[in-house]
Amino acid sequence: MQDQVPTHLHYGSCYCRGNSDHFDNLSKGLLVGSRSKEKLPPGPHKLPFFGNLFQLPKTREYLTYQKWSNQYGSDIIHLSILGQSLIILNSSEAVSDLLEQRSLIYSGSMGWKWAFPFLPYGRVETLTNCDMFIHWYLGKQWKEQRKVFHREFNPDAVARFRNHETEACMTLIGNLQQSPNRFIEHIRHFSGQLILKIAYGISVQTPHDQEILISERSVESISLATTPGQFFVDSIPLLQYVPSWFPLAGFKRMAIRCSEDSTWIRNELFQKVKLQLESGLFESSVTSRGLKNISESQDATYLQGVLKDTTSSLVSFILEMARHPNVQQKAYEEICCKTGTERLPTLSDKSDLPYITAILMEVLRRHPVAPCNAPHVLTEQDHYKEFMLPANSIVLVNTWAILHNPNIYSDPLQFDPDRFVKDGQLLDGHKHPITACFGYGRRICPGRYMALESMWIAIAFIIAKFKIEPSRNPDGSIVEITGESTSGIITRPKPFECSIKSRQEYAES
Ligand code: HEM
Repeated sequence: MQDQVPTHLHYGSCYCRGNSDHFDNLSKGLLVGSRSKEKLPPGPHKLPFFGNLFQLPKTREYLTYQKWSNQYGSDIIHLSILGQSLIILNSSEAVSDLLEQRSLIYSGSMGWKWAFPFLPYGRVETLTNCDMFIHWYLGKQWKEQRKVFHREFNPDAVARFRNHETEACMTLIGNLQQSPNRFIEHIRHFSGQLILKIAYGISVQTPHDQEILISERSVESISLATTPGQFFVDSIPLLQYVPSWFPLAGFKRMAIRCSEDSTWIRNELFQKVKLQLESGLFESSVTSRGLKNISESQDATYLQGVLKDTTSSLVSFILEMARHPNVQQKAYEEICCKTGTERLPTLSDKSDLPYITAILMEVLRRHPVAPCNAPHVLTEQDHYKEFMLPANSIVLVNTWAILHNPNIYSDPLQFDPDRFVKDGQLLDGHKHPITACFGYGRRICPGRYMALESMWIAIAFIIAKFKIEPSRNPDGSIVEITGESTSGIITRPKPFECSIKSRQEYAES
């Protein structure tokens, strides 16, 4: 369907910039609007003007949101940060009712043109000025990029990446064999090699190649910029005009760097493919295939941003294997029994190896890469249960709480892939963490099929080839793996040590 020129547009940023009445009302839990004095969802007490700014948790914010949700007896809670309204959904019911069933108005984004996941969702009705036009244009770009994504990464299309996935896994195995202690670097290399090959047909040699470093840096900036407390800086109108060295303008500095990184990626890599195409010597990639259909501004830059997601999950996998030798042994026995030891498993073996799939699901559940999802923006005022939800609120989902709900996942802090398997078969149903860890509604991760396939094959290869154990101190005691993770919208385990030995070497020793 053709996009309509918009007739009205909702902003994806501050609900009420610099309006003191608004601050006062928010601090009393009241709303300004047609149905004044309707209740906001509960939440911690708000100070005038600052709201909950000083209560914002600096790390593991999902635990505090979960605590508030329990304390106020509501799966939906409300915070106000300098007048910016923030709604946090803590249950899959609230997510399904709002982000999924009402996804038309819950799919707004932060409106940053330098990062696809933050492009505003293109629902607009009135176009009244130039700013609005830019917003509308970015929304249109988002829709077109999703179309490209769907064409390239739908469940059938991702099969074409299997050779690249196997190639990247072989490099990973080789690297792990050579220098097992540098496993994090090798996993980064794996993710970078795969995504750059798929996006641009480019082969990288080491995890220190500029393409990988810049891509990772850009996603790091996005992750930090979207941490509550950072992105609210954006809601103070004055800060938009301060120089980037200003102390509170950290967000702005990150945005500039991220924008520069995206521009570098676009100029260097996109141009490289263009030149190769012109010379007739090119490797088929998302960019080369799209060049005939997509304009320069819709290149595959957005693909690098996801490099960290698969790295994070695979590092979490190594961590859990080091901690759970029984799980690892069970998975190895499944591989030995179903595919034998003469060859490595392939994706065609997937249905015969349900325990490998269960391990992947448990890693995604126990270590969600985006524990509070990506921020969505509510583009219209809404009503839910007895609450009024203000337009332009930022909506976060406490995915961590959903994936650790004891009513759905018994003993939720325990790493236990068996929760997904019964009588040697993978269980179907709503308990699958895949329904939450890849996001929701219209913004659900479009790369999920490819991510799942590439992680599955990497996990199967690693289990088939290696034995992972905790490291030992000189006195023989085990080096503890704390399992702590980094903060930000995208998290990963903090660096840890473990021992990775090839099974052959292990048998010999
Ligand atoms: C472990 C792997 C991955 C995880 C856990 C993950 C998770 C997510 C999540 C939680 C979101 C936000 C969804 C929302 O706003 O509701 C997202 C968005 C996105 N993901 Fe992924 N992702 C992964 C891998 C990938 C891969 C491999 C690709 C590309 C091939 C990809 C492409 C994207 C894009 C483009 C968006 C933005 C979608 C939009 O705003 O419309 N992701 N992902």
